Amino acid sequence: MVDISEDGRTWLLSGPSSSYALHLTGADELLHLHWGPRIALADAEALAASPLPGYWPFESPLDGREEYPVEGGPRFVRPALSVRTGERRGTEWRFVSYDTAADGDGDGDGDGDGGGDGDGDGDGDGGGGRGGGAGAELRLRFDDDGVGITLHYRMRGDVVERRVTVENGGPARVELLRADAATWTLPDREGWRLSQLHGRWAAESRLTTAPLTYGEKVIGSRRGHTGHQHLPWVALDTDATEERGDVYGCALGWSGSWRIAVAQLPDGRVQITGGAGHDDSGLLLLEPGESYTTPVFAGLWTDGGFGGASRTWHAYQRTHVIPDAERDRPVLFNSWEATNFDISEEQQAALARRAADIGVELFVVDDGWFGARTSDRAGLGDWTPNPDRFPHGLKPLADRVHGLGMRFGIWVEPEMVNPDSALYRAHPDWVQYQPGRKRTQLRHQLVLNLAREDVQEHLLGRLDTLLSSAPIDYVKWDFNRCFTDAGWPGEPYPQRLWVDHVRALYDLLDRLRAAHPHVAFESCSGGGGRIDLGVMSRTDEVWTSDNTDPLDRLAIQHGFTQIHPARVMAAWVTDSPNTQLNGRVSSLRFRFVSAMAGVLGIGGDLTRWTGEELAEARRWVELYKEIRPVVQRGDLYRLRPPAGGLSAVQYVLDEETVVLAWLQAQSYGEPVPAVRLRGVDPTASYECRETGETHRGAVLLHHGVRTGLRGDLDATVIRLRRM
Ligand code: GLA
Repeated sequence: MVDISEDGRTWLLSGPSSSYALHLTGADELLHLHWGPRIALADAEALAASPLPGYWPFESPLDGREEYPVEGGPRFVRPALSVRTGERRGTEWRFVSYDTAADGDGDGDGDGDGGGDGDGDGDGDGGGGRGGGAGAELRLRFDDDGVGITLHYRMRGDVVERRVTVENGGPARVELLRADAATWTLPDREGWRLSQLHGRWAAESRLTTAPLTYGEKVIGSRRGHTGHQHLPWVALDTDATEERGDVYGCALGWSGSWRIAVAQLPDGRVQITGGAGHDDSGLLLLEPGESYTTPVFAGLWTDGGFGGASRTWHAYQRTHVIPDAERDRPVLFNSWEATNFDISEEQQAALARRAADIGVELFVVDDGWFGARTSDRAGLGDWTPNPDRFPHGLKPLADRVHGLGMRFGIWVEPEMVNPDSALYRAHPDWVQYQPGRKRTQLRHQLVLNLAREDVQEHLLGRLDTLLSSAPIDYVKWDFNRCFTDAGWPGEPYPQRLWVDHVRALYDLLDRLRAAHPHVAFESCSGGGGRIDLGVMSRTDEVWTSDNTDPLDRLAIQHGFTQIHPARVMAAWVTDSPNTQLNGRVSSLRFRFVSAMAGVLGIGGDLTRWTGEELAEARRWVELYKEIRPVVQRGDLYRLRPPAGGLSAVQYVLDEETVVLAWLQAQSYGEPVPAVRLRGVDPTASYECRETGETHRGAVLLHHGVRTGLRGDLDATVIRLRRM
């Protein structure tokens, strides 16, 4: 809902429990007024009435107060927008018009002072573009000698989606040096803390919180993909806990290089600026008539602590971002850890029989089925079945898998090529490279230049043929190296390949989804290297991490769920001792309960599991299927973080509650504490499905439930049903 003051210069967007307000001064300065609890238009107008402090030579009153600070004029903060036209840098805005539209569609009740809908570019490049809902979009248009800027705002529940369109309506070429999607302004408070999710390969999404100090904290990726190093998310609070207190969160929907800068300015004000691209050295050229729309930068405020923030994020993604989120994800088997590159039809069929036997619903053949791909040294780019391994193509195996009652999936890595491949031999100029320089290989592979139309068409054709060649229901789409020599000989600078690679990826996914609507897609990048709201709007689940150690996973999952829901968080049960990483020995019980916190998968070598292990696995899979709707669609409460001892998460959907609890290590034989629940009705009673006992809601909330866990690496599932 959007409220607008009579003079058309103060705007108030409201969700169910929050509001966001901005104001345009008489001098066309666009100021941020409010982001926090729901307020009335009169409150916003009162805020708008307080005058800006005066200018003095060493500080600007605009700094820390502007809605979208640009380069040019009396501003010393990091500009969200930096433009060069000919010899001139920076912009000077003149307000043109605003309009509102119901949920991003068509023009609404414009203010009548000119300015039709110029951009017409729908949802832009980023995430958050799906689904309906009671939202409203506000668009503010500005102009500077023909360069048009539109700020877009859309409420999705309590999530504010922001993005910007820059349009070159003038006669000259415009160089877009930087165009962030949004700048977020926090209220005046003392003692801000910044939470972020950091990591590296096999150690993604680890939550860390630290006091914010003066200056800037910058996170991002200059790698061409979202990266394992940071999820494009930050949260700011002063004194919040898991369940209480003000939390601001911001998340970017972009799967290429990106940057989020959190600045504490000299007067203590805090702003968060973010968008595509890591540096300010040039994003794109805009020829006359061309426009650029940034990805979505989404933000939310809650007073429900970090748990409240993540539940709002989860609901937002399930409703507006993730395709088919109302459909639960199947239990999958993936061959990677079991058979690596050494695969054949018979051996996969043997695995499939065992997988079907324990209740797996989707069987995925990972790397190694195509071209000359018998190791990571060859074959990427040649997306036809290896004739020695699959002499009759993939169809016979797919049919056998279907015959066992499972769906069939394959692994691909379309954006890459091994120099040892038919594709590279035919098209050595199809990769990113700098003329006359080394082509840096990582994992023996190069990155295809997806900005090229011929490469796009080739990939679309190849993948479309592949998906039509056999009954394939699922595609794990991988991306296993960063950009290094990202050049495109012959193209002027700034080169659009950084932005266009991501656009082409999105376009490919969109077109393949449209042509093969029954096929589900997984986003993988050496584990969790490409997880963001942008890719999330086109994939059904994501590969959380190549780290399948069930204990490490608890911390990774704790971080991951700060922003993304269990519905997309793929987690596999693999072999013990852990083969990928650390040789840790753990029980099947512990491995299953760890993986059941997300989308359960199996990745162990089932041909080596004993009859007893297979029988136990079957029971866990059965239990998972029962709790799956609650896990994948319920509200998530992180009851106790994984910090060495007892940790637990809870999911609540309607009358059902599921608690998963893990004990890392019991010390001194001390009793393991009871787990206090959240989200249950204190006046109701709950029946425990495991023990048959009845628990009173108030007791569960204030005294908790005993888990019965003991020793090291123990785990349990507790199901409660409201009576
Ligand atoms: C990446 C993925 C793995 C597996 C391998 C195959 O590392 O994260 O799950 O698919 O590639 O090469």
